[in-house]
Amino acid sequence: MAFLSELGELIHEEHFRMLVMICEVENRVKGADAAPPVDPADADDRALLIKLVDGLDGLLVHNAFEEAVLFPAVAEAGDEAYIGLIAEEHFVIEPLASRLRDLAAETLERGPSFARWTAFRDAAIEMAANLILHLESEEVTIVQKLRVLIDPQLDHELAQRYRRERSRGTLRPSPQVQYHAHG
Ligand SMILES: [Fe+2]
Ligand SMILES: [Fe+2]
Repeated sequence: MAFLSELGELIHEEHFRMLVMICEVENRVKGADAAPPVDPADADDRALLIKLVDGLDGLLVHNAFEEAVLFPAVAEAGDEAYIGLIAEEHFVIEPLASRLRDLAAETLERGPSFARWTAFRDAAIEMAANLILHLESEEVTIVQKLRVLIDPQLDHELAQRYRRERSRGTLRPSPQVQYHAHG
């Protein structure tokens, strides 16, 4: 999108991937009783679970960057109170992401059980509801306004920094959302 800044494009692209991922998972689990348990023995389900584990790991890194770098950078120029509210949504999303990620990893490893499937389904539906709203508000109030919220040089530096830290794996989720890598 032409109106996005360099950093805006990076963040926007990740938001788009998250949206596609969570809608795919939501579509798979909704319909409550009619939907069969997600089963790694099924090729499509297995691919979805793997995508979910990777995607949610990425989401936690994305959020860590927003909290440590993006939000402080735009708070001065933007509406600080409103950006605080958006940042607070991370406190709901991150434990949910961590839980859903662990349930997906456990399902991959051990297959479905009734309890695991029920927990996975509930976490996926709750995550979808919260994440979709968060992405919408973050897009409208921050990402699509970055051109006016921060100057182009800083935007460029932050975009470079994000690409660099993301590829080095130096960004870590905040300690309260650390989870066990192997469920
Ligand atoms: Fe974001
Ligand atoms: Fe966010």
